[in-house]
Amino acid sequence: MLSINDIVIAEKSVFIRCDFNVPIDQDGQINDDRRIREALPTIRYAVDERAKVILASHLGRPDGYDKSLSLKNIRRRLETLLHTNIALAPDCVGEEVEKMIKKMKPGEIILLENLRFHKGETQNDPAFAQSLARLAQIYVNNAFGTSHRRHASIFGMPKIMDVAAAGFLLKKEISYFKKVLDNPIRPLVSILGGAKLKDKIGAIKNLLEISDKILIGGKMAFPFIVGLGKDIGMKYDDEITEIVKEILSALKTSKKRFYLPVDVVAADSITNSTAIKIVPIEEIPKGWYGVDIGPATVKLFGEALADTRTILWNGPMGIYENDLFSRGTSSIAHYVADSYALTVVGGGDTVDAIYRAQEAENMSFVSTGGGAALRLISGKELPGLAVLEEKQNA
Ligand code: 3PG
Repeated sequence: MLSINDIVIAEKSVFIRCDFNVPIDQDGQINDDRRIREALPTIRYAVDERAKVILASHLGRPDGYDKSLSLKNIRRRLETLLHTNIALAPDCVGEEVEKMIKKMKPGEIILLENLRFHKGETQNDPAFAQSLARLAQIYVNNAFGTSHRRHASIFGMPKIMDVAAAGFLLKKEISYFKKVLDNPIRPLVSILGGAKLKDKIGAIKNLLEISDKILIGGKMAFPFIVGLGKDIGMKYDDEITEIVKEILSALKTSKKRFYLPVDVVAADSITNSTAIKIVPIEEIPKGWYGVDIGPATVKLFGEALADTRTILWNGPMGIYENDLFSRGTSSIAHYVADSYALTVVGGGDTVDAIYRAQEAENMSFVSTGGGAALRLISGKELPGLAVLEEKQNA
């Protein structure tokens, strides 16, 4: 895969696909600008090399034009972080945008308006990809977080560009995930959590193949407890029951170690709890909820993490957004941060949780990808990467 610093970009128009899909509140304020900050080295490099820098991104999932999802606040944040003026185009394709780009001088930056204001983006419409391709001489993908989407600016456009390369963020993400997934220093421990088991089946199956130990926490641990024959008052549909059965029976013949919670923090309500108890997993009171892993589980997981050399973590251990239920997740964050391992953390909630635990700086690598990271962990290809590799090998 070509990298932006493998090609001559001086004086050329360079389209950099970024992932500026950041959380924005009702007043348009950006709540977390990490994805914007992580894109800066590539943008600064292109400016320093005196390219004409065209930045593009989606924001949210608009159905056509939606004023509240304009990239104007992203522009403002970029201007602050880069200490420079940035033009905001009224659209992301079309004559007016082409004219603005023609007038640009080397070293200048323009930000295109939200790519998803056009349906052609998510539909990977060839005509829309063609309109994007008309804007620039060189294509750069720096949007790791969107590289699992077969969209026009990620897939269709680079296919038809003469030169397509990866930005520094994309390179960095891939290199850390490769270190963990392709050739880890052993032992490799994977920690999986979160609510939706169905979303993580691919990840569990792949990680079972490559990890030495797997730790499962969060709501997705419960179907496994039920699958082991324990009555915790929960029932699952046939699909989940089958998957759990399959995974548990594969584990019987494997040497892998599989850890599940042994106790939980139980609450009488998820939103308005008035009572909380720590109980063994089989003793969650009727009508109550398991909202976090308990202290015995924290200890068990902590011991499983001792002496490990590589840790991959995706998914919180409980409803960490509520301070009352965040202790299990933050304790695991401290164990991971204190380990002498290469530590790679991915997934929006997990990243949010390690920031809350003030441990983000102590991880080897914190990914900007949610769905993209999960797809990689599941051992699947990312269309945005595949197309760059294909071009390089052509
Ligand atoms: C993300 O936030 O995961 C990426 O920006 C992709 O967004 P999407 O899930 O709306 O395609």
